[in-house]
Amino acid sequence: MSHPSGNLDKSVISVVNVGKSYSRSGQKLSVLANLNFEAGAAQTIAITGPSGSGKSTLLGLLAGLDEPETGTIRMDGVDLTNMSQAGLASFRAKTVGIVFQQFHLLQTLTALENVSLPLEIAGNKAAEAEAISRLEAVGLGTRANHLPSQLSGGECQRVAIARALVVRPKILLADEPSGNLDAKTGEHVTDLLFDLVRKDGTTLILVTHNEELAKRCDHRYQLRDGQLHRML
Ligand SMILES: Nc1ncnc2c1ncn2[C@@H]1O[C@H](COP(=O)(O)OP(=O)(O)OP(=O)(O)O)[C@@H](O)[C@H]1O
Ligand SMILES: [Mg+2]
Repeated sequence: MSHPSGNLDKSVISVVNVGKSYSRSGQKLSVLANLNFEAGAAQTIAITGPSGSGKSTLLGLLAGLDEPETGTIRMDGVDLTNMSQAGLASFRAKTVGIVFQQFHLLQTLTALENVSLPLEIAGNKAAEAEAISRLEAVGLGTRANHLPSQLSGGECQRVAIARALVVRPKILLADEPSGNLDAKTGEHVTDLLFDLVRKDGTTLILVTHNEELAKRCDHRYQLRDGQLHRML
């Protein structure tokens, strides 16, 4: 095994001894326990595991949306567990992109407005031009002024991918991004996702139930009994 500190230096994601539980009707439900995990630059990593095993919980921790009870999480060299709320907000705006199963687009904003929003929040003067170029990259240049309700599921997910990648984040977290689409549309959206992350050298954490999809990633893990197990 290589020296741990050597690994830490190169890791884009480093998760050490992380634990997380929820309390439900007075009972403590342990979801993640002593979970360890590392990912390097430009790696694509699949996480599979039974429903309820804690995959979305883990992504929420990596996104800085929730805090672990124990352990540390370093993303792009920054320790999330010591960060202020303002620091976490800035980390989420710059370092990670997130794609959810249910798209989570803002329904009253057009495709273009959804995609340019993260750039506007970041104070980017060229927000609109960059958002248009990202929409073109996902094949939706001609649908920029459509509302989510005027787009198909696959198109909405392509908008969500464009939005997640528009700030060129180092890390993309995707939670069942094709889970809500029919097989053919899902495949198309997934091809696009892989093309974009490979082009940009983005580290991808892909949560999926789909074994075929998982096999497209450089490394595969199964989340079970609170920990990630390496799959061959
Ligand atoms: N806010 C919460 N409060 C209480 N329990 C929760 C909460 N969020 C998740 N859980 C529980 O934690 C466990 C892990 O949930 P999680 O959503 O991370 O699983 P998952 O692996 O993503 O499942 P799925 O494959 O169905 O999406 C489940 O038992 C779930 O019921
Ligand atoms: Mg989930």
